[in-house]
Amino acid sequence: NEKGYVKYTLNVQQGMYEYFTGVKVPSLGYNGNILGPTLKAKKGDIVEIKVKNFLKEETTVHWHGMVVPGEMDGGPHQVVSPNGSEWTARFKVEQQAATLWYHPHGIGTTASQVYGGLGGLFIVEDENRLNLPNEYGVDDIPLVIQDKRFSQKGDLLYLTNMNDIMYGMLGNKVLVNGVIEPKKTIPRGKVRFRILNASNARSYNLKFNNKLPFVIIASDGGLLEKPIKVNDVLLSPGERVEIVADFSEFDEGSEILFGDRGYNFLTLKVGKKGKRYEIPTRLIDIDKISEKDVVRVREFVLSGLGHMVTINGKQFQMNRIDENTKIGTTEIWRVSVRMGMHGMMGGGRNSIIHNFHAHGVLFQVLKRNGRKPTGHEQGWKDTIALRNGDTVDLIMNFRKKGVFMYHCHILEHEDNGMMGQFLVS
Ligand code: C2O
Ligand code: CU
Ligand code: CU
Repeated sequence: NEKGYVKYTLNVQQGMYEYFTGVKVPSLGYNGNILGPTLKAKKGDIVEIKVKNFLKEETTVHWHGMVVPGEMDGGPHQVVSPNGSEWTARFKVEQQAATLWYHPHGIGTTASQVYGGLGGLFIVEDENRLNLPNEYGVDDIPLVIQDKRFSQKGDLLYLTNMNDIMYGMLGNKVLVNGVIEPKKTIPRGKVRFRILNASNARSYNLKFNNKLPFVIIASDGGLLEKPIKVNDVLLSPGERVEIVADFSEFDEGSEILFGDRGYNFLTLKVGKKGKRYEIPTRLIDIDKISEKDVVRVREFVLSGLGHMVTINGKQFQMNRIDENTKIGTTEIWRVSVRMGMHGMMGGGRNSIIHNFHAHGVLFQVLKRNGRKPTGHEQGWKDTIALRNGDTVDLIMNFRKKGVFMYHCHILEHEDNGMMGQFLVS
């Protein structure tokens, strides 16, 4: 590859995959039977990605978190027809290092295609040379977390009951990088994990089994100003965090479990001593978007479940632009969840019931329920988790023109119309 120019081809294809040894089930993947390659580009690069659709149905490929013009965004308007048709995305990477991802975004087919196996990481790098673990697959480890439901025999099940339709598809097994409850050897030292919640509907409260503390170093849009020490981190569908945990105090051969509440779905086996890293106490400076520049506050009210999901009382329509804005302007988007009589359902006040993602922009969280954001919500975000009754104020500045989506990232909700469109002109 010539410097500053990165080319990829993604073949969207059907295959067979063994989630359980000896049980082959139909699956979807990019350039393979399941998931897809980790794409990489540097800030400043021109990226060209040729997408070839070998499925028997339409698809699109959306670069979640990449701030690109509307025509290159890979949303529902950039349809790639079935049976070998192509679409080429070409854009310049103009944002800081971050862990992004790509996935299908067709009308009514996003949930089933992601569940079938389509999705991959897109890592942006930049000139910043901090002393962070960066040996991919060794001490810089991607964790694509997804839940899926299997029958006793090991067949993959999808949408088998009313709950799946109401709350989105929840599985009975959690997979990491396409593997059910895998085991991975890690160096005895500091290890960075790039974690993506690529589940259709499940949120996770991620932690290590022995209360091992860790630091969060990055949110959806890249590094935080400083590492934040925590014992767990909440991640709703579509969100990413990068964390660093220190395993140097463990004996070689010991096993640390990672998971959500009572269910540990990843086993980490401590191996030989790793490289030395000193995590700086200051990572980067984040320029705060100024509230003085805000020209408008827009409200988005999320409500309903199942086929009744709405944003501001409306369901998605391909030929309707819901919001119009101008390039270069700064706005606050006030997003809230008001479930009304549905508030009693779905685990009550403390569970994530919807979330909110916007294309074509990264935002900063000004306030969550009137308070300053905590944890990874202090960094650049593109997706934010919401409980019933929550209100978040998101401040953003529009830098790319075109038509973009905003939606709940619970994919069954998105497919049921919990999505709108905004035009930046
Ligand atoms: Cu991750 Cu509109 O998408
Ligand atoms: Cu997106
Ligand atoms: Cu939702």
